[in-house]
Amino acid sequence: MSDSIASLAASVYLHKRAKNQYSFKETELRRELVFSGNYVVSNKKELVLEACLGTCIGVTICDKEAKVGGLIHLLLPEWTGYSKNRKPGLYAKTGLPIFISALYAAGADKSRMEACVAGGSLVGPVSEMDIDLDIGGRTAEIVREILEKESIAVRQSETGGFFGYRLSLDLKSFNTSINLTADRPAERSKEFRKPTPDDIQRSIRMIRPIPQIALKIIRMMNVGNYNMNEVAGEIKKDQIITAAVIRLCNSSYFGLREKIDSINRALILIGEKHLFKMIVSASLEQSFSNVEHGYSLCKGGLFQHSLGTAVVSEELARFTGVVQPEIAYTAGLLHDIGKVVLDQYISSIYTFFYRRTQIDMVEIVEAEKETLGFTHTEAGSLLGESWSLNDRLIDTIRHHHHPEHASVDPELTHVVYLADLLMSKFQAGHELQCLNNGNITLRLKKIGLIPSQFSTIVDLIPHKILEGAINLHGMR
Ligand SMILES: [Fe+2]
Ligand SMILES: [Fe+2]
Repeated sequence: MSDSIASLAASVYLHKRAKNQYSFKETELRRELVFSGNYVVSNKKELVLEACLGTCIGVTICDKEAKVGGLIHLLLPEWTGYSKNRKPGLYAKTGLPIFISALYAAGADKSRMEACVAGGSLVGPVSEMDIDLDIGGRTAEIVREILEKESIAVRQSETGGFFGYRLSLDLKSFNTSINLTADRPAERSKEFRKPTPDDIQRSIRMIRPIPQIALKIIRMMNVGNYNMNEVAGEIKKDQIITAAVIRLCNSSYFGLREKIDSINRALILIGEKHLFKMIVSASLEQSFSNVEHGYSLCKGGLFQHSLGTAVVSEELARFTGVVQPEIAYTAGLLHDIGKVVLDQYISSIYTFFYRRTQIDMVEIVEAEKETLGFTHTEAGSLLGESWSLNDRLIDTIRHHHHPEHASVDPELTHVVYLADLLMSKFQAGHELQCLNNGNITLRLKKIGLIPSQFSTIVDLIPHKILEGAINLHGMR
């Protein structure tokens, strides 16, 4: 699809929206996010269920008379047959019937049930592949078929288009609202001066340096030599990192059945390689946590996006075999580190930047160039140099939006690019993002993949990632 067709379609869509505004009043009610693969069914209570939807489809079904309602968040039309996920709730074909049964069990009656459907948008600049595969469209189609078969009336349906949606169900009134995520009200505006190269260098110097122990581990991973003895003493001496590692290990992202209460216990339960990844992640959490006003769309949003990209990069590395999984994890974790440098500038022009990336659909690095004269990929590679990261990481940070320009380890850069793209399409609502997915066929080919495998790749995203790092920052 050409840019002009995409922007025409977007403006027609916005016009349609303008004529059909939904009245969603912010209330004092408690909110609960429903992540991919999950559903919530409940009776009347003071709670609003919400789902942030990119390509995913969200469905609410209510029986107002019985005072029963619920929301399900679906990732794909059906299981692709490859992933380990096998969580029925991720797929329309298996998840929706389970959701409907749960509503019946809670007292809802088919004749009174009403459904609302939202999501399935193309999100971001659209490639030929998106249109060919139309994952969101196919998921919506299966949803429609199942609802029709069950004779459940569809009261409202907002699917497709080019913007993310926020689907909300008020469990007090059993009213559903569908809003574009681009409707988020603008905040900050103050005098803005483009940063000079000196300002950027100063900002880099202000960033809390990455702990030595994390650097040491990154170096070990790079050469494939894992020696716990070399770092064990250092970790135990550093109580802040120890506490952060234990918290991360026990978070829902990496949650284990058994609680971890010490580094030694973690080593026994998760092993050396996994513990090393936790140490690097926990070391970086502090740096990312300061990014809250510019790029993050929610508390801890950029760290969650980075962790998710790390885990998905690792999965893709394993699936394709083109790069060592632990190196892919580290590169995924660090890919957007430049946003930590630029966040303070973006937060001053948040309104304008939000519009450029989320409504005008300008690719994020283009919008940064236009507004700041500097991109997060450039800032990230400078920060990487100041931390003495190795060349393959610096090159991946620099080129993760245009991986064909990578020269040190192009496969690694392509893996991280693809993981980043998957996160932006299937884990909406965490950070400000607008990725270029042109040349997708060539980019997939670089790591031995073909476009028809895209659904399989989406299905590789661990469902813990789709559910978000809900315990990391007490978000839920
Ligand atoms: Fe990025
Ligand atoms: Fe990213």
